[in-house]
Amino acid sequence: MTKTTIAVLAAAALAAGSALAQAPAGDPGRGAQKVQMCQGCHGIEGWRTAFPEVYKVPRIAGQHPQYFVSALKAYRTGDRAHPSMRGIAATLSDQDMADLAAYYAQTGDTMRKASK
Ligand code: HEC
Repeated sequence: MTKTTIAVLAAAALAAGSALAQAPAGDPGRGAQKVQMCQGCHGIEGWRTAFPEVYKVPRIAGQHPQYFVSALKAYRTGDRAHPSMRGIAATLSDQDMADLAAYYAQTGDTMRKASK
């Protein structure tokens, strides 16, 4: 291992440590791996065949990440009462929420373009 490699690894470890101390930063790539449990209800790009049935479910693609995370936290604490979303949110960590928020914030643009 070169000195440069060690320095890079040390910097990465520091960055990871400070991310844990604050609100976790969302990673859309990780979020994409966690949406299986959301898309059946919310529908996402490529899953819009569910369209006529999803009208009662709020559209979350393109939603602002801060709003997204605070909504999920409200379901987790019970401030928002919807039973299915409470069940889902109870299984999510803060990191999961941030990743999902980052992913859905990105998919909004694609969906808007695709729906034109
Ligand atoms: C069983 C169906 C179902 C599943 C699965 C589901 N949701 Fe929901 N979701 C809903 C419904 C219905 C609402 C509206 C609830 C309400 O009225 O409070 C909602 C609301 C939300 C909201 C708030 C939207 C707003 O505009 O206030 C967010 C954010 C959200 N869901 C994210 C997710 C995420 C992320 C997942 C996957 C981890 C997920 N949902 C899985 C049905 C579902």
